[in-house]
Amino acid sequence: QNLASSSRSNNTAHFLPLPPLSLRTPPPPYRYPTIITTYSHQPDRCITHDDTSMAYYNQAPIGCDLNYGFESKVERDEDVDEHLDGLCEALMEAHEKHDQRGDGGEDGDGNEAAERKGGIITWRGMITRIMIAPYEPREPWEMTAIALDGSVYVELHDPPEIRQKRRKDQSSWAWQSYMGYAFESFSTTTSTEGNETKHGDGVHTPEGWGGGVNTNVQVSRATVVRSAIGDIPLCLGGEVDCVRAEVGTPHPGLNKCVELKTNKVIYNEKQDAIFHKKLLKHWAQSWLLGIPEIQVGFRDDAGILKSQRGFETEKIPRFIASLPDPPWSTTPPLHFLHAVLNLVTTHVLPTDPLVTNPHIRGNLGSEEILPPADVWRFSFVPRRGCELYR
Ligand code: A3P
Ligand code: MG
Ligand code: MG
Repeated sequence: QNLASSSRSNNTAHFLPLPPLSLRTPPPPYRYPTIITTYSHQPDRCITHDDTSMAYYNQAPIGCDLNYGFESKVERDEDVDEHLDGLCEALMEAHEKHDQRGDGGEDGDGNEAAERKGGIITWRGMITRIMIAPYEPREPWEMTAIALDGSVYVELHDPPEIRQKRRKDQSSWAWQSYMGYAFESFSTTTSTEGNETKHGDGVHTPEGWGGGVNTNVQVSRATVVRSAIGDIPLCLGGEVDCVRAEVGTPHPGLNKCVELKTNKVIYNEKQDAIFHKKLLKHWAQSWLLGIPEIQVGFRDDAGILKSQRGFETEKIPRFIASLPDPPWSTTPPLHFLHAVLNLVTTHVLPTDPLVTNPHIRGNLGSEEILPPADVWRFSFVPRRGCELYR
């Protein structure tokens, strides 16, 4: 980032309007994701290239209290902006392993060795934001795009004042947010014994409690997948909440992954309609990583888990379409995603310093000689569209 410089000048701006929500033209296909690699965050936030922080699904007991453990939670220092560090480190590790093996294509576990050039490398959360933008009436966002070695790296552009506002908003949601993490703890285990209710030191914990909340660990392993929207290759990193497998199962595939969500208990039609709207984000977030199952825990205002419902990710769009007044369809999100990423790759890829200065390629690895990357920005204006500029 410190290599980069950016200035906004309108003569390089490109504007892309939102697609009409009534659009019916079939969208570009989304390629079924395959795993490139997985990695784990340790309690101190450092990374290990293994599945040590994998969590296994273990249904939460109805009646559990999602306030439990609030006082002893460990929160990640949000002032540390990690950019794409974990994802890039994982890709470098995957490249190294691949080079050592000297083979091509897939590794022994059916994983793909690396990202494909000419596409986008980013967090799954960025792609989710772009996809749901056609249905987002309020929240603008801005992202940074930099081309390097044949790929475009995309991350959230998070100026200090925006970050401060977001933190303030989040602090008023701290309790709700905690209950989401507590549901993860009650729904997962890392032990073959299941979640014990009594520890050796005689301290009792509630039934099903999987251990204290530490948002450094993000409960589970991060997964890096390879996919594509239409002809644009994607390499996405994201956290997977847990897997539905016997504790200790080595390398469970994407088909075993489960996303956990909490929601307030639904008492009336209005609340039901709000939940149906929220399913767009849940669907997009899970579908992008190839996570087939979403478990939603419904809690009352006091934070007690009242009921739970499982969804098959791929069936959610059909469920929404079957409603009398469907609040969303996947068509505008997929068209918009392809259009935005097409705009980004078309303009940003040719500014790759390795394209504009081909003679430096042979010296890659020596940071001193890498020329500054061109920093592009693209921003989303709710109800209007997306603008790309530098
Ligand atoms: P819920 O999903 O039950 O809301 P994720 O669902 O993406 O795995 O995230 C796990 C939990 O982290 C969420 O639980 C929520 O409590 C919290 N969380 C996620 N994104 C957040 C955000 N932007 N601000 C505050 N809390 C957030
Ligand atoms: Mg999660
Ligand atoms: Mg979750």
